[in-house]
Amino acid sequence: MIFSGIPKVYTMRRQCLLLLLHSTTLRRSRFSSIALTTILALCVISFVHVFLFPLYDVDQSKKSPTKNFYDFEQSQLCLNSVNNVKHRRTSSWKRLRCPRYGIVTIMQGGRLGNQMWEYASVWALARRTGLEPYVPRCIHVKLEQIFEQLSVPNYEEIGDCPIDLARFVRSVDAWNYTNQSIVLPRYSTHPDVVLTWVQDIIQEFTFKRRFQVKSQNVLRLAAATSYTKKPKASSSGTTDLVYVGIHVRRTDYIGYLWRKHAARPASPAFFHTAMDIFEGRYERVLFVVVSDDPAWCHDNLNMRPNVFVSSRTIPNAPALDLAILASCNHSIFDYGTFGIWGAILAGGDTIYFNLTKHSSARVGRLLSNWTPLN
Ligand SMILES: *[C@@H]1O[C@H](CO)[C@@H](O)[C@H](O)[C@H]1NC(C)=O
Ligand SMILES: *[C@@H]1O[C@H](CO)[C@@H](O)[C@H](O)[C@H]1NC(C)=O
Ligand SMILES: *[C@@H]1O[C@H](CO)[C@@H](O)[C@H](O)[C@H]1NC(C)=O
Ligand SMILES: *[C@@H]1O[C@H](CO)[C@@H](O)[C@H](O)[C@H]1NC(C)=O
Repeated sequence: MIFSGIPKVYTMRRQCLLLLLHSTTLRRSRFSSIALTTILALCVISFVHVFLFPLYDVDQSKKSPTKNFYDFEQSQLCLNSVNNVKHRRTSSWKRLRCPRYGIVTIMQGGRLGNQMWEYASVWALARRTGLEPYVPRCIHVKLEQIFEQLSVPNYEEIGDCPIDLARFVRSVDAWNYTNQSIVLPRYSTHPDVVLTWVQDIIQEFTFKRRFQVKSQNVLRLAAATSYTKKPKASSSGTTDLVYVGIHVRRTDYIGYLWRKHAARPASPAFFHTAMDIFEGRYERVLFVVVSDDPAWCHDNLNMRPNVFVSSRTIPNAPALDLAILASCNHSIFDYGTFGIWGAILAGGDTIYFNLTKHSSARVGRLLSNWTPLN
């Protein structure tokens, strides 16, 4: 649409010049001033149009592959085309803010938990290297529906800036100069860098208000419908109800665990031992379970009166489940990036299933209040 309009604008400009020349010669004759005004108005409009859309060359026939950041995002970073993302044209003054040195960016892959790691890796490596961070819009649109304070900009800021792919490297280890850029592979995690600033990444992933309100409602419902010990009158310690979020990852992950780690899924015994540990630590504990398989949890974990399985039959939307885990005080999870983030955001004591080569172990070793359990 825009493409076909461009040549017209250019020929219009030529015609304007001709008409202007014409009109000056005609001025002494009885050339109507209305016609002159109309021509001038048309000329102004066409010039403004050309000024506002300066980026399209008249010659659209040459198809150079990756010449700006939008092309890069579309062809390399996003799994699905970002056509559904608004391609907002940056205007000329904004275009002046192109990255002066290198940037850190990443390829999209996986679901919510993976994409949070991808975002966090860009955020943290930018902080570590001093490069400017940018996440592709395919990741950004997903996260900005859930989180309120994302500080890393997306490609809308730099989309039309020219790109020099020769300056891109694929890891921090290969990066030598501040004018080189880093593009991280999909599924990157970098917990050692991200968790240098645990409190800041928790802040970065602040839930939008509607998720905070909904998750608190779920906890209130859990407290109202599950049996919990009444505080003892004589009790000296704190008698507040302590919420422990439990994430149980099953469905497709069971096959993945077997193929990738030759590991069997966590048994009900793992969860019950972990629950016993928390019951030994606190007077009044309420377990709030979220899972991609709530029916399994209902059958295997619900025999205690102080267990509440959120969404007993159909799983919640992932964003709400994550918000529920994050609003609990402590955590139990088996494996998977989703459970890891739930526990990081909750920020309390965490018991996780002991899989030594799994990413949960890499995270667990970095956080002093995380404990593996067989
Ligand atoms: C960057 O550093 C790595 C490792 O130190 C080295 O192998 C590589 O040649 C360097 N690249 C450039 C362009 O100097
Ligand atoms: C970018 O880094 C290369 C490699 O060190 C160097 O040759 C070049 O001059 C640098 N360019 C700028 C603009 O700093
Ligand atoms: C435990 O979590 C609940 C629900 O989010 C919260 O209201 C309470 O302040 C938390 N307790 C502590 C000690 O952080
Ligand atoms: C976790 O598993 C590894 C290997 O199977 C084992 O050596 C280690 O003792 C286990 N840790 C705990 C806390 O059980």
